[in-house]
Amino acid sequence: MPDRDLPLDRPLALGQTIACANQKGGVGKTTTVVNLAAYLALEGRRVLLVDLDPQGNATSGLGVDRRQVHRSIYDAFVDDVPLQDLVVSTPVQGLRLVPAAIGLAGAEVELAPLPQRERRLARLVDGVTDAYDYVFFDCPPSLGLLTVNALTAADSVVVPLQCEYYALEGLTQLIATLNLVRDHLNPRLEVKGIVLTMYDARTNLSADVAAEVRRHFGSKVFETLIPRSIRLSEAPSFGLPICLYRPESPGALAYRALARELLEREGVVPGSSTGNRGAAAEGLSQPSASPPIAGPDDARRHASDAPGTGSTRPSATPAASHPPVPHADPPSVATLSELAGAADAPPPPVVRGADFAGGRA
Ligand SMILES: Nc1ncnc2c1ncn2[C@@H]1O[C@H](COP(=O)(O)OP(=O)(O)OP(=O)(O)O)[C@@H](O)[C@H]1O
Ligand SMILES: [Mg+2]
Repeated sequence: MPDRDLPLDRPLALGQTIACANQKGGVGKTTTVVNLAAYLALEGRRVLLVDLDPQGNATSGLGVDRRQVHRSIYDAFVDDVPLQDLVVSTPVQGLRLVPAAIGLAGAEVELAPLPQRERRLARLVDGVTDAYDYVFFDCPPSLGLLTVNALTAADSVVVPLQCEYYALEGLTQLIATLNLVRDHLNPRLEVKGIVLTMYDARTNLSADVAAEVRRHFGSKVFETLIPRSIRLSEAPSFGLPICLYRPESPGALAYRALARELLEREGVVPGSSTGNRGAAAEGLSQPSASPPIAGPDDARRHASDAPGTGSTRPSATPAASHPPVPHADPPSVATLSELAGAADAPPPPVVRGADFAGGRA
């Protein structure tokens, strides 16, 4: 059952819904959502994690044996079982889970002919948002109906981006999908932030990718960098989030810092408590004068104009020991501005007229 008994003497972010999405596989979606959710719970928030991935990695990563899961989010999608009837405990106090089961793989097919199929999760989640401060959705690595349901039900999206050579590839497609969802299904959807994952401080490549992403997306990128950490990859095999497995490890400290940064961005914890910020430690923080998001060319001009920017770390140059980091097929300026929620952005020339999963909303 939801944590109705938790003390309420702290600021609430009542009922925020956040999808963790990137159609690219293995970029750290599940690791991020499990550990972010766990640290938010440890910060006293009431958190529900809904596992929307048929792989069930968030489910098993929180110690729930998928073979023992008799009812899962699949039953909510297909048989309208209320979410609160599916909630199970996790090892973290204050963190609850709606598990996934393998049958969820068939849900996309079963949902396809149903009316309002993109809005089923939104309707389901309405029944639980007053019982939680945060409801997270762990999305599968696709832009199919399950992810579209998550984006339709979400107030915002967190996008994990792996610090690797092809990091930005596919972002254009994700951005187009976000804009489609906003245009047709969920106008309130915003980008909560991009999380840079598996950052390896020993390589120029990680630094270059991080710098490139920050040039494109400015303050939409969380300052906290998630390092590559063997402890983070071990923790799920023990069915534990990192806060219970190795709370002093660099990966644990990073996810704790990420949770605090998220709370701080919402103005609910003092700035002094943000702790260890990977970006600050690596000299990667953005100048505050930078526009939140701008077109790649504009952003580069600002970055090179800004005093101190890029001076403390290697930059992406052809002289680097690896090929230059590929840009996302740069999304249009308007699309990026739209993503940033810029009030004065011109109407975005985003993809229009495309269908979701073969049908219009
Ligand atoms: N910071 C990290 N350091 C080391 N390993 C990591 C880190 N983050 C994730 N991993 C590992 O990388 C793999 C992919 O991570 P994860 O499952 O979180 O990605 P995902 O985007 O959810 O994948 P999928 O697209 O399959 O759902 C996992 O084995 C995970 O343990
Ligand atoms: Mg996953």
